[in-house]
Amino acid sequence: MIGPVPSVEWERTNSKRLIKMVIKRVAEDVYALQSFDWDRRTFDSILETPKGTTYNSFLIKDEKNILIDSTKPSMAKELLEDLESLNVQIDYIVSQHAEQDHSGAIPALLREYPNAKILGTRACKELLENLLGIPAEKIQNIEDGQVLSAGRHKLNLIVTPWVHWPDTMVSYLLPEGILFSCDFFASHFATTKTITKLEEIQEEAKRYYAHIMMPFSQMIQGNLEKLRNLEIRMIAPSHGPIIEKPEIILDLYGRWSSQTSKKVTIAYISMHGSTELMVKHLTRTLTDLDVNIRVINLANTSTGELIMELVDSRAMIIASPTVLTRPHPSVASMLYLVNMLKPPIKYVALIGSYGWGTLIEKETRKLLGTMNIEFLEPVLIKGKPHKEDFERLDKLAWEIKEKIGEDEK
Ligand code: FEO
Repeated sequence: MIGPVPSVEWERTNSKRLIKMVIKRVAEDVYALQSFDWDRRTFDSILETPKGTTYNSFLIKDEKNILIDSTKPSMAKELLEDLESLNVQIDYIVSQHAEQDHSGAIPALLREYPNAKILGTRACKELLENLLGIPAEKIQNIEDGQVLSAGRHKLNLIVTPWVHWPDTMVSYLLPEGILFSCDFFASHFATTKTITKLEEIQEEAKRYYAHIMMPFSQMIQGNLEKLRNLEIRMIAPSHGPIIEKPEIILDLYGRWSSQTSKKVTIAYISMHGSTELMVKHLTRTLTDLDVNIRVINLANTSTGELIMELVDSRAMIIASPTVLTRPHPSVASMLYLVNMLKPPIKYVALIGSYGWGTLIEKETRKLLGTMNIEFLEPVLIKGKPHKEDFERLDKLAWEIKEKIGEDEK
């Protein structure tokens, strides 16, 4: 039986100066304990986090008290202080994912609450033992669909592998209908607000999806299907704000993972202007053909911004001069990341200028070696582009238009 719609009713902080922790009551006897990392500007030394991040734990107070996820090790002290202020003993810690930003405070929690039992997936148990040295006997494997009863509250434990590690799971709380989703549906966004509008979360959710979730788009589709029959009233991820209108993020994930976009993204860099002339011409022709395009100059735009564009692109045009027979290093580095993150592009075209010789096509194919893509006929020219080169670019533009279909927008 599902209860009243949960909503954030009050919050308090543990500091009068720089806020490190915020406690929010999200429903009766359900609390979000958010650790704020305002200054963090990259995650995993890859993902830009211009708005910082949070690490969120959730407490369900009942006959048995359940803590869902923890925080990174350096914020364990604040989490323990918050739990003390809420006057609880912890009976269960549900570890939805073993990566240390969510599990790192578990050893400190176990010192404070030595009788607490840790619950996680089979893969999570092994990782917690290996990463944090937690004794095996402290951790219980959960089964997919298992229900943990706290008393009035029931927590449905749902295995959702590969969002984004093999160990990941989510938890669905009744009667409130709250989905605790850990990294799934998360964003790196340090804000004390909760989210009710698409525009408040879209950009940071997309940046997060692009770098963390995109390689697993098929698994995401399967996991979304698994959640389809749940009446979700609120999504409480373990990074970023709580989402009070779940359909906002569910719709975005459905769209991003279904790979139906028609956009064409052009990623380029130029040294002496010839490659740029080619990009300008191709851009003009594609625009005339009413193709939806986005142009990114890698000389002044971060690779992260490009990766975000590729979340909803159907084709990528790589425009690079040849440097010592190879792609420009900025392009090579970008291609390496694209190959890892597996955006939903289906077509790739290579264009660019070279001086005396080039192996750029071979190298590009190698760098994108694990992508399931079709390479279109490249347009590689010696020196400055001439009339016949522009005609080849026009032909490429028509081919792209044809490939991605009539409905480009
Ligand atoms: Fe936020 Fe995969 O940890």
